[in-house]
Amino acid sequence: MTETDETNEHCYDGITEYDNPLPGWWSAIFALSVAFAPIYLIYYHGTGGGMSVYEEYDSESARVFTLRFKELGDLTPDRDTLLRFKDDPQWLAVGRAVFKANCVSCHGPDGGGMVGPNLTDDHWKNVTNIEDIAKVIENGAANGAMPAWRHRLSHINQIVLTAAYVASLRGTTSSAGKAPEGTEIPPWPPRDAPAE
Ligand code: HEC
Repeated sequence: MTETDETNEHCYDGITEYDNPLPGWWSAIFALSVAFAPIYLIYYHGTGGGMSVYEEYDSESARVFTLRFKELGDLTPDRDTLLRFKDDPQWLAVGRAVFKANCVSCHGPDGGGMVGPNLTDDHWKNVTNIEDIAKVIENGAANGAMPAWRHRLSHINQIVLTAAYVASLRGTTSSAGKAPEGTEIPPWPPRDAPAE
């Protein structure tokens, strides 16, 4: 790059400027970043499927936990099991990852409800006992408006841990917060309560 002492034709209030164009490498980087921006935007913030570091962490830890399912054996979706895992932050991470991957499109990022009902309040349409949550997830509801996940989630433990995660959302505050639907049900029982 050679600088010139030539001024260009513009003259404003007696002020002129030297006629030195931007260096080629600078313009090239600028043009490249402009071209790259939409790709990045679509990949990470649009429909491209790119994951943020948090999502990558969640999906990696879910993968690790899936490998660790052997430790758990095959869980049964009964009351004791759901109550136990509802308070187990380590295993709830699996349920949270399943929820983030499959459920937020209809139930909102924090379970506040969108197409599907709010899962954080005390009103439920298809659930009277905590174990009903697992049944709804397995079999779906409202003729498939809520899809059945029995065949889509590969392992029964995913259903159980997702149900436990959904149960744990109750009472949390959600940003969306769809109006309550269904009937108000009593709180989840304490862990060692006798079955009704
Ligand atoms: C295609 C949209 C859609 C997706 C995806 C979806 N749901 Fe639903 N879900 C619904 C709808 C709609 C209902 C309400 C059904 C009804 O009206 O009885 C529902 C109901 C439920 C209920 C019962 C709520 C109640 O008040 O009885 C639970 C629990 C639930 N969904 C959990 C999940 C979980 C967990 C996932 C992910 C594995 C999921 N849903 C994915 C649409 C969806």
